Amino acid sequence: MTKYSIENNFAGVMVVPVFEGKGLSVQAKELDKKLNGLLSEMCISDNFESKKMQMSFSRTQNKDVPAVLLVGLGKDTDFDIRSLKQVVGACVIGMQGKKIGNFSLVLSNELIKKFGAKKLGLELAVAVETASYAFDEHKSEADARVQKLEKLSVVGKFSASEKTNLQKGIAEGEVIGHSVNYTRHLGNTPPSIMTPSLLAKEAQKLAKENNAIKVKVLSRPEIKKLNMGCLLGVSQGSVEEPKFIIVEYLGGGSSQKPVVLVGKGITFDSGGLGIKPGNYMNDMKFDMLGAGTVLGVIKAVASLKLKKNVIGLIPSCENMPSGSSYRPDDILTAHNGKTVEIIHTDAEGRLILADALAYAVKYKPREVIDFATLTGACMVALGNERSGLFGNDESIIKNLEDKSKEVGEQLWHLPVGEEYTEAIKSEVADVKNLAGVGGPGYGGASTAAAFLQFFTDYPWAHIDLSCSHYDGKGKPWIRHGANGFGIQTLVEYLR
Ligand code: BES
Ligand code: ZN
Ligand code: ZN
Repeated sequence: MTKYSIENNFAGVMVVPVFEGKGLSVQAKELDKKLNGLLSEMCISDNFESKKMQMSFSRTQNKDVPAVLLVGLGKDTDFDIRSLKQVVGACVIGMQGKKIGNFSLVLSNELIKKFGAKKLGLELAVAVETASYAFDEHKSEADARVQKLEKLSVVGKFSASEKTNLQKGIAEGEVIGHSVNYTRHLGNTPPSIMTPSLLAKEAQKLAKENNAIKVKVLSRPEIKKLNMGCLLGVSQGSVEEPKFIIVEYLGGGSSQKPVVLVGKGITFDSGGLGIKPGNYMNDMKFDMLGAGTVLGVIKAVASLKLKKNVIGLIPSCENMPSGSSYRPDDILTAHNGKTVEIIHTDAEGRLILADALAYAVKYKPREVIDFATLTGACMVALGNERSGLFGNDESIIKNLEDKSKEVGEQLWHLPVGEEYTEAIKSEVADVKNLAGVGGPGYGGASTAAAFLQFFTDYPWAHIDLSCSHYDGKGKPWIRHGANGFGIQTLVEYLR
């Protein structure tokens, strides 16, 4: 765990951010003086122009400050929260790469003024926490593991209130960052370990750690009793027992209607009998990251003691081929009695979500927001740095879009509508689990959303995490694997 401190003096390895075209900040100039002009010299000799992400590293002769890293922020006018997180994250990963586990970051007055001390502290800590996380526990050689970031100091000339607000922000950012990494860890864990049963145990662990969280886990007999025929259908080809996990955080008092969060918890998606070809099956351990997001949001919301009622509903199972698998042409009956024709066993996420969305009615929710790694189509449309946003309520959509911008996550509003709703109608059941508009697979992210919408009768939004939930290679500011997309947006949305 990284320890944070706020300091006035330059000590240790220093990271010095510089805006393009603005020269060294007042604070950086002071450090430059202490280092006999080393920073100014680096700007010239290393051709350092402060372009976003540009870096220049140097060891020094100074005992107090053994090394410095100049880092470019790009143009002040282009510099937003997303850029801040990228630059800070890249510095952390850069330092870990040099086996430096303790360094300081110079915060100029410009940065404090731009974002406000609390927001700056919060986003900084989120960036530091998410950048320093690595899923390396399965590496047998200690040397091959990533350098832990033990201490991070923030250095500058802060007023008393700026210092307090920075501290408050950092404390909240740590909580959120830990929740993001918790979700990433659930996602990164191999699917032979991260089964529906372990996911349920992890939820129960959350409840043990924080007694404001209550967890109930339903197993096959109870799931049967609730007539969740879609969850049962998808799970029947696997030796792993399905789980329906209910997480409650009631911080808002008895009169407040809850927000229900629903998360797709497919712990491995082989495609079932409609088995995925070649390497399309790789990375399908991440197909439970909707569930992981719900758990991460509730962990954060409970740790921050938000005065809100939040319920998490997680249908979880494996999608596997076997003699007992559900088949194309089967008709499954959901919790609310609606029937579904199976066209393709690989369109399983919407099925297990249907049972959960129907079950959510029981809570008389203010609104329901679901998270799911639902469609390859959404990934084709948006790539891996944005998630699709769908819903039946303009104000929820607008609010989610605004909050995502504020935290530097990217949501993109995509449609539901009549043509998609028409397309999913079935000849033999109420709806079918796969349809296109104008051609096979056309509008696949929207027909999937329309399918979910069929099971809702409350204000609702759906976030298709497609492949925005992980990165096979990683980025300069975050390592490969699950990235925890959406948790921070939801925390701000629920505040
Ligand atoms: N879990 C996948 C969606 C997915 C694909 C997420 C790639 C992340 C990356 C989902 O269950 C699925 O398999 N969808 C298929 C359905 C189709 C084959 C009927 C899809 O969208 O390709
Ligand atoms: Zn699938
Ligand atoms: Zn899936």
